[in-house]
Amino acid sequence: MEATTLVSVLNALAVLGVTTLAILHVYRILDILWLYFLHPSSVKRYLHGNASYAIVTGATDGIGKATAAELLKRGFNVILHGRNEAKMRKVVEELRAAASADIQYFIADASKDDHDWKRLLEPFRELHITVVVHNVGGEPLIDTRIDERTEEHLLGVVHSNALFALFLTRALLPQLRRAAQSGPVQVLVVGSFAGDVGPPRLPLYAAAKGFLKALTRGLDNDELFFGTPTGVRFMYLSVGAVHSDNHPAPMQPSLGVPTSARFAWWLVESIGCGRRNVVPYLVHAVQYWLMQKSGNRVVDRGMAQKMKELMAQAAKRK
Ligand SMILES: NC(=O)c1ccc[n+]([C@@H]2O[C@H](COP(=O)([O-])OP(=O)(O)OC[C@H]3O[C@@H](n4cnc5c(N)ncnc54)[C@H](OP(=O)(O)O)[C@@H]3O)[C@@H](O)[C@H]2O)c1
Repeated sequence: MEATTLVSVLNALAVLGVTTLAILHVYRILDILWLYFLHPSSVKRYLHGNASYAIVTGATDGIGKATAAELLKRGFNVILHGRNEAKMRKVVEELRAAASADIQYFIADASKDDHDWKRLLEPFRELHITVVVHNVGGEPLIDTRIDERTEEHLLGVVHSNALFALFLTRALLPQLRRAAQSGPVQVLVVGSFAGDVGPPRLPLYAAAKGFLKALTRGLDNDELFFGTPTGVRFMYLSVGAVHSDNHPAPMQPSLGVPTSARFAWWLVESIGCGRRNVVPYLVHAVQYWLMQKSGNRVVDRGMAQKMKELMAQAAKRK
């Protein structure tokens, strides 16, 4: 090949490469603008049937309680889940003072594996459930490695962060499919950046969130591509730091650390956005993007430093 032809070919390839990159970046930017600013809220589409209900797990504090309050504002009736009956009664009273919708609840310790699902869900069997928010989860900040923790503690982390959502979904699915005959049904799974990062002292919590991410995708595929699509859709939410007073080391609210109420607004806005993986809060989305661009070494060191600070804060608070 002559030198001039070779130069022309290389130039053409360079132009093609730059154009492809530009198109991908423009697409990405438009996608972000659409998701966070332009798309009209879809949550109203989930109000169908005579009375629509949303289930929220871990609803006595933090993100779960705020999400229940936000869903009530949007016209849903709610079924709350918690582990402490006295605390739950107070939350229900508080929510009832601000909303006229129906508020029901059930009590179950998510860290255990002995639930009688049929009995637990019996009072809600005839209700038209169109939104499920699997929110329960978290892990106490304990400054030890897994070989220094009891088997019971480790199993508790797996149950409350992963298996409770799995078995609750299993128990609800026939009812959700029934509701989906009159409109869309959305199951949201509250995940964590930890699932992508694996912070020290939280390896099992991170693994449980990773499990949820894969489970969400598989369940969504199951409802969508085998047999007749059912209209029940699953979505995994990648969540960064959110303020909650319930935490052993609560992070102060800031632009990067929204209050639970502010985060809940974004969470509810993400319902029905049509994605399977979403970072619901815009500033978290920027943080997530930076994390992906920074490389594992930088992220892992940064995360280890943050965990040391949180451990020290939690120790001081005790
Ligand atoms: N906040 C963050 O920075 C952050 C970041 C990433 C992901 N997330 C995820 O967001 C979700 C909610 O976190 P959050 O910050 O809102 O937590 P939170 O303020 O501690 O609230 C957790 C809720 O779950 C309940 N709960 C905890 N363990 C339970 C158990 N074994 N059985 C039944 N209920 C239980 C708590 O009940 P009590 O009221 O009885 O304690 C509370 O209602 C979790 O899945 C967490 O992994 C949070």
